[in-house]
Amino acid sequence: MGSLFVPLAIMLAVVSGVHSCPPSDRTALLAFKAALAEPYLGIFNTWTGTDCCSGWYGVSCDPTSRRVADVNLRGESEDPIFEKAGRAGYMTGSIAPEICKLDRLTNLVVADWKGITGELPKCLSSLSSLRILDLIGNRISGQIPADIGKLQRLTVLNLADNALSGEIPSSTVELSSLMHLDLSNNRLSGKIPADFGKLSMLSRALLSRNQLSGPIPMSISKLYRLADLDLSRNQISGSIPEQLGKMPVLSTINLDCNSLSGQIPASLLSCSGVGILNLSRNGIKGNIPDVFGTNTYFMALDLSYNNLKGSIPGSLSSAKYIGHLDLSHNHLCGAIPIGSPFDHLEASSFSNNDCLCGNPLRTC
Ligand SMILES: *[C@@H]1O[C@H](CO)[C@@H](O)[C@H](O)[C@H]1NC(C)=O
Repeated sequence: MGSLFVPLAIMLAVVSGVHSCPPSDRTALLAFKAALAEPYLGIFNTWTGTDCCSGWYGVSCDPTSRRVADVNLRGESEDPIFEKAGRAGYMTGSIAPEICKLDRLTNLVVADWKGITGELPKCLSSLSSLRILDLIGNRISGQIPADIGKLQRLTVLNLADNALSGEIPSSTVELSSLMHLDLSNNRLSGKIPADFGKLSMLSRALLSRNQLSGPIPMSISKLYRLADLDLSRNQISGSIPEQLGKMPVLSTINLDCNSLSGQIPASLLSCSGVGILNLSRNGIKGNIPDVFGTNTYFMALDLSYNNLKGSIPGSLSSAKYIGHLDLSHNHLCGAIPIGSPFDHLEASSFSNNDCLCGNPLRTC
């Protein structure tokens, strides 16, 4: 009996291995599908038959193991299916916890469907192969799983444009592979973890449009790969760490619409790497440090709506380039420097100060 059974079992394994995904993966995908409704494009109509590795829209498998590796569903894309339907995607329902049974998943993208609600399944943090988790542009609520830090391979965590609340879990800083963090436009509150600087691979930290409070963690300055920091439109307080201006590749800093106080660190204006700096609508005081030079190159420098006083530093006229300058709504006084960086600026860049004068305002 054994001698007959063994070859038969091998034959079955070979046949099923070539022509279908594991039934457990298929069952998990069907449960995921059952919790969602996509009325306009019909993408889930392709999710039929036994082989979930071929022809299932957005699903792909590891070629060797035949386990499901990617679920990639974008509601806004170039795919012809959208052109045919003549509209962007829309989906309702929620992300079923059965997705966690796909334990070899490396990419989970369910992005820009606008109508997906419900909470993030807590078990997502058990998907230990996950590299990309992108759920941007839905209406997902509830909290980020507390043990999200278990996802040691995660390089992209994008949960922007949802309705997530609660704090940024403290375990987030354990995501040692994370390069891109986007939690913008949610309802997150509490402080940014003090040891945020442990995310040593991080190059983009986008946390704007939440209700985050507390200071900018000093440890951020340890993120030597950080290129883009956006903490705008929160309730962040305290002063701007001097070290921010000494980071090797940091080029975009958006801290606008917060409750920052103290003075502008000179390093932030003197270093040549920062090309976009927005400190608008805070409570920043003192003079604008007179530290600009021939290396100064700002695409945008927005210091409007603060409590800056004194005069506009003369060194600003030696700048190589200032694309957009906004110093309006402060308490600046004195003559606007003359020089090429100022030639193309309009009066609105300087309006609503105490006593500025000179081109493009009234003559002194
Ligand atoms: C800076 O931030 C303010 C407030 O959020 C915004 O209105 C302004 O457009 C931003 N400036 C630039 C140059 O992007």
